[in-house]
Amino acid sequence: MELNIALLAGDGIGPEVIDQAVKVCDAIATKYNHKINWTAALTGAAAIDAVGDPYPDETHEICVKADAVLFGAIGHPRFDNDPSAKVRPEQGLLKMRQKLGLFANVRPTFTFPSLIDKSPLKRERIEGTNLVFLRELTSGIYFGKRGREDDGNTAYDTCTYTRAEVTRLAKKGFETAMARSKKLCCVDKANVLESSRLWRETVQSMEKEYPEVEVSYEFVDAVAMRLVQWPNSYDVLITENLFGDILTDEASVISGSMGLMPSASLGEKNSLFEPIHGSYPQATGKDIANPLATVLSAAMMFETAFGLTDEAEAIRVVVNKSLDAGIVTEDLAEGKKAYKTSEIGDWLVANI
Ligand code: IPM
Ligand code: MN
Repeated sequence: MELNIALLAGDGIGPEVIDQAVKVCDAIATKYNHKINWTAALTGAAAIDAVGDPYPDETHEICVKADAVLFGAIGHPRFDNDPSAKVRPEQGLLKMRQKLGLFANVRPTFTFPSLIDKSPLKRERIEGTNLVFLRELTSGIYFGKRGREDDGNTAYDTCTYTRAEVTRLAKKGFETAMARSKKLCCVDKANVLESSRLWRETVQSMEKEYPEVEVSYEFVDAVAMRLVQWPNSYDVLITENLFGDILTDEASVISGSMGLMPSASLGEKNSLFEPIHGSYPQATGKDIANPLATVLSAAMMFETAFGLTDEAEAIRVVVNKSLDAGIVTEDLAEGKKAYKTSEIGDWLVANI
């Protein structure tokens, strides 16, 4: 198969972890007889510096034309403490999600047998955890009406959802549940918020189309609690944009390191794959960041964007093998030998 992939390395450790994913993808392509055409494009602070826009039109064109987008990270500390900055790297991410129509953000949390004791939670609480969040990504409070009044002394952001937006995300949730263990949890705050009541009503009305799926409805505060008590009691969870942002960060550390969890952002036509972690500015250029979340995002890409499940599985197998062998970056080394980002990539390639 010929695979056309847009490559957006972005900022901070983005380029370093992306390099490893590219090596791994190329090795997989050689093994399974595919041809990958990579097209690199600018995004984030790097794009602001070059052309003044964190998601330039040229980058958008490249993403639209590609079969999939592989993305590193964006964000730069020089913008974080400058509330007056007019353009920010993060705006690029939001613009990209919206322009590519990436409404469903798939964020799994699973454990690795050899890392169980690295989790901040006790073994018996996390063993068997294998859940996936579907976070709505192109609406809600992130994209609602916002502004200032009262000479700048009052600020507001509004959370708006339409039934159509909830329906398309929930449909993905039901379908994902059907392909897994047929359990779906709708996370909302329907005891307080009108938009949550629309979510609940919409999901309830869809239940009859998926009679085999057992649906539960839970409030977001309760889910935040149960996620660290019994994460292995969840399977597929659907939720709105901001709740999903917060809960998926909480869930991402269950596996033992933030540097492990992949994600996919899916639209009707386009799809993007990226690690859950950010640009980790303190580690930039040091060759120490964990590349596995990006490598596992590439596995999701093979599976989801191209339907190449053997290739995806081959990546997961070699990643697990590296962890079992103690070939880990410093976030997981705990006083033992820490391998460099690039050494992890080389090891994976050599073992594919
Ligand atoms: C994420 C990030 C982004 C978000 C930021 C960088 C805009 O935290 O992908 O979860 O809030 O969606
Ligand atoms: Mn986030």
